[in-house]
Amino acid sequence: NLFEKAARLIKQSRKTIVLTGAGISTESGIPDFRSPGRGLWENLDPMEVLSTGVLYNFPEEFYKVGFKILSSMRNAEPNEAHYILSEMEKEGIIFGVITQNIDNLHQKAGSKNVFEVHGNTREGSCLRCGKKVSFEVLEEKVSKKQIPPRCDDCNGVLRPDVVLFGDPMPYAFDLAVKEVKSSDLLIVIGSSLAVSPVNFLPDTVRHLIIINATETPYDYKADVVIREKASYALRNIW
Ligand code: OAD
Ligand code: ZN
Repeated sequence: NLFEKAARLIKQSRKTIVLTGAGISTESGIPDFRSPGRGLWENLDPMEVLSTGVLYNFPEEFYKVGFKILSSMRNAEPNEAHYILSEMEKEGIIFGVITQNIDNLHQKAGSKNVFEVHGNTREGSCLRCGKKVSFEVLEEKVSKKQIPPRCDDCNGVLRPDVVLFGDPMPYAFDLAVKEVKSSDLLIVIGSSLAVSPVNFLPDTVRHLIIINATETPYDYKADVVIREKASYALRNIW
């Protein structure tokens, strides 16, 4: 069966790396971006709401809509899928996790080698002077109705350090590209593989496993495609 086939590939692989997307966290109660009827997002377009265009030109709007969605992820807890990946890393079965998620759940589950290629919701920074602040500072200022929140040093607008549409990719992405190139197996979990440049990663590796509830544009390239929930699939492979 498919689980056995996936397990065999993982066993035979010298170096395996995992790429996760929003679909691994839906079982933790965080809606993804592109499933039908996508909860929080309803008729909002993430490419617009979470963009530098909105942040720079309509910072109040950014804080009233996009920022709220980011902030709401911070109370979530990891699910079985996150825990199994953390265990697999501990046992040396996978090298680490490249994640497009900004919900911190891989780290909360104990994963150590995490490449956050779309930033995180632990930190923020000043658009004018670059000063680093914690995400809590942004939340405190917003809750005190300072919208947009401003830098204590220079009064510039503060931003969360997530990668918005229009932002360059962070250094973590360069590292991730290198790790994928030196791996012989990539396991994609819970990503529609619709967003560039992350969706080029499956092109740069020899073997590919895709675990995703719905079809992806890379299914035809994969050695194994498992169209199941992430936790169920990982439990069976494990
Ligand atoms: P998407 O929402 O595009 O894709 C999530 C995929 O997970 C969908 O194809 C779902 O079918 C699948 N899925 C949902 N629940 C699942 C489950 N329990 N088990 C398995 N699969 C499940 O999310 P991403 O691919 O992560 O970027 O989106 C990529 C980027 O687009 C995000 O990082 C974000 C967004 O705009 C930025 O914010 C920069
Ligand atoms: Zn500043």
